[in-house]
Amino acid sequence: MSGVFITLEGGDGAGKTTQSTLLEEWLTAQGRVVVRTREPGGTDFGTEVREIVLHSRGFITPRAEALLYAADRAQHIATKVRPALERGEVVVQDRYLDSSVAYQGAGRVLDAEEIRELSLWAVEDLLPDLTILLDLDETAARARLDSADKPFDRLEAEKGEFHARVRAAFLALAEREPARFLVVDAAADPETIAASIRTRVAPLL
Ligand code: TYD
Repeated sequence: MSGVFITLEGGDGAGKTTQSTLLEEWLTAQGRVVVRTREPGGTDFGTEVREIVLHSRGFITPRAEALLYAADRAQHIATKVRPALERGEVVVQDRYLDSSVAYQGAGRVLDAEEIRELSLWAVEDLLPDLTILLDLDETAARARLDSADKPFDRLEAEKGEFHARVRAAFLALAEREPARFLVVDAAADPETIAASIRTRVAPLL
């Protein structure tokens, strides 16, 4: 039995957490051992980086921000994700390198190819078996975040136009690698979304 690496991507408020939970439950019912994790913050080191990158009060330059996400990623993949995959487990991860390409590349307007290369270097070229993109119009996403009544982090606090660029970048990434991506309409009801995810995941098991 070999490990399976699944990532969930999408804008803030797209429902990644709900879908990760449903997928984890289903995989566990299929008899698989699941490691549920996220970036930034999947390790102790990552939790400290997450605090800086999401909540630091001072200005962080775009390149420094990109390096912080990459540092979190390097530590996370080396110490948690690769070992789990080597044990034959299924890793269900909220956000991965596509988030960096979309947020730091398109959002912060750094060179998307350089951001991707930086991440690939950090993780020694590990790509997911499947990436689920929960696609949602940024206005609808913002309404969900508003109704959640939580203070915004540094990225969430960016303007609508930033999130529109992020969304377009995710869709372009999915178009470029159709074999790796499943794009789902995040405005659909959660059970419908979960069913289409299960259909795509089943052959990977
Ligand atoms: P997330 O954990 O999804 O936020 P929350 O727990 O509040 O739902 O992600 C935190 C933020 O970090 C999110 O706005 C996207 C951003 N991010 C990047 O900008 N680049 C990255 O490489 C990653 C992984 C996340």
